Amino acid sequence: MAEVILKDIVKIYPYIDKPRRKYFGLFGKKVVPHVRKHNLQITDKGVVAVQSLNIDIKDGEFIVLVGPSGCGKSTTLRMVAGLEEITEGELYIDGRIVNSIEPKDRDIAMVFQSYALYPHMTVAQNMAYPLRILPQNITYQFEIDFLNHKIEEQNAIKAELKEKLPAEAYAKKAEAIDKEIETSNDRIKECEACIARGETSYVAKLSPEMRKFKVMQVAEMLNITEYLERKPKNLSGGQRQRVAIGRAVVRNPKVLLMDEPLSNLDAKLRNQMRAEIIKLRKRINTTFIYVTHDQVEAMTLGDRIVVMKDGFVQQIGTPQEVFDHPRNKFVSGFIGTPQMNYFEADLIKENGSYFVQIDDYKVELSKEKQDRLLANNVESQKITLGVRPDHMIVGENGIDGTVDVSELMGPSAHLHMTVKDKDVIVIIPTSGGYVNYVGQSIKLGFNGALVHLFSNENDRNLEFLNEEFQEDPREVERRKAEAEEVKVEEPVQAEEKVEAVEEKPAE
Ligand SMILES: Nc1ncnc2c1ncn2[C@@H]1O[C@H](COP(=O)(O)OP(=O)(O)OP(=O)(O)O)[C@@H](O)[C@H]1O
Ligand SMILES: [Mg+2]
Repeated sequence: MAEVILKDIVKIYPYIDKPRRKYFGLFGKKVVPHVRKHNLQITDKGVVAVQSLNIDIKDGEFIVLVGPSGCGKSTTLRMVAGLEEITEGELYIDGRIVNSIEPKDRDIAMVFQSYALYPHMTVAQNMAYPLRILPQNITYQFEIDFLNHKIEEQNAIKAELKEKLPAEAYAKKAEAIDKEIETSNDRIKECEACIARGETSYVAKLSPEMRKFKVMQVAEMLNITEYLERKPKNLSGGQRQRVAIGRAVVRNPKVLLMDEPLSNLDAKLRNQMRAEIIKLRKRINTTFIYVTHDQVEAMTLGDRIVVMKDGFVQQIGTPQEVFDHPRNKFVSGFIGTPQMNYFEADLIKENGSYFVQIDDYKVELSKEKQDRLLANNVESQKITLGVRPDHMIVGENGIDGTVDVSELMGPSAHLHMTVKDKDVIVIIPTSGGYVNYVGQSIKLGFNGALVHLFSNENDRNLEFLNEEFQEDPREVERRKAEAEEVKVEEPVQAEEKVEAVEEKPAE
């Protein structure tokens, strides 16, 4: 277990994409070579894959990095592993700065999406491999468990010999075995004394017997004991991934890094392995950093999740916090399925109270939201209102919408609707009886405590404007350009309107 601190970490890849060049393929046809596209900021130094990342990962915490493809998740993980140089900033593992320390000396293990097992070795050999090369951190507790296991085995041998051998021969053998057991017991006492003194581990090479025991222990934990003698090619994807995880945890790494470990598995197996990882996490004392682009994995596994986009951190928080209080529109749309619905609305401040209004449907916000808006001095303005599908209420009051499709999912139904020319998804419970609304026009309301208010200016959640937020400078520029475009266009639109009015009498 270890604390991992990323302080102002930046990664810049030198810009290596070649300029677009035309060349001629088969039959002299002009072929335009594929050019890698990304949304990252490009500076003189290169492509900025990770922008000033700050996070304090606690001892034993399970952190999930989540975000769309290319947002810098793997890059971050590889920097922690030492497989990628850190351009700027400091990385601490267990209080020690490790920027320039070799991967093998960082006491970490990594599990990749591709299992990366040795095909010519059995499962047991694959798992024992990392234990063979280097001296290991052996905990006294592990040695005690090993010795107890050995004593148990020796007692079993003794019992067997007693049945087989004549009394005299048995006595001789038993004496030798008892001597070994005594030595083991003495060593157990020594180990216990060390633990009592507060010492936990020592560094040494593992004996072949100890290696075997360690592999057995981990195999039991991961439910793969029956496959230990098989080669990887004779295993299913899920079993292979378990072996890969096993190989990573045999060394008791302080930090376990996982890069999309489940994305090669089918949906059912993925759910199963997700549960396995939750169990594994309870059994081993390690800090986890887990990368995924699957928000369900992030929500279910993480103690905290880090939502990233284009190299920028968007929000760091517990799954509940990120789901209930997304700090901007991107996070609100990325976390939660089906996706949040958005409406153009007015935020109205009236006699010190806040309301949201769409057309003539007006709802007062909850006290909690009002207090936060007040603290941020938020004034009346046009906003983007976000409402999760299961927080929409079908009833007598609200905005009008037409139901295009209704999917009955069992305990609930998903209504795909058109509201003001926009697609909206509404989840309604069916426990009180399923009503098929297809083709009907219904009213949609919402609860003043379960809505999200996003600024039209910068997409930020208006309740949390006081918090620090690292804005993507290109976004700021894009919005500025957009605002200027609108300003230029306005008079043109006005002229058109005049023409339209003038034309009418001629009809
Ligand atoms: N060696 C490299 N040289 C230049 N650019 C790179 C290099 N490796 C990665 N990148 C770029 O850095 C960005 C971040 O890559 P990274 O692999 O961290 O993304 P990711 O979040 O893990 O995405 P995915 O979900 O697709 O794995 C990408 O836009 C990628 O094109
Ligand atoms: Mg990746």
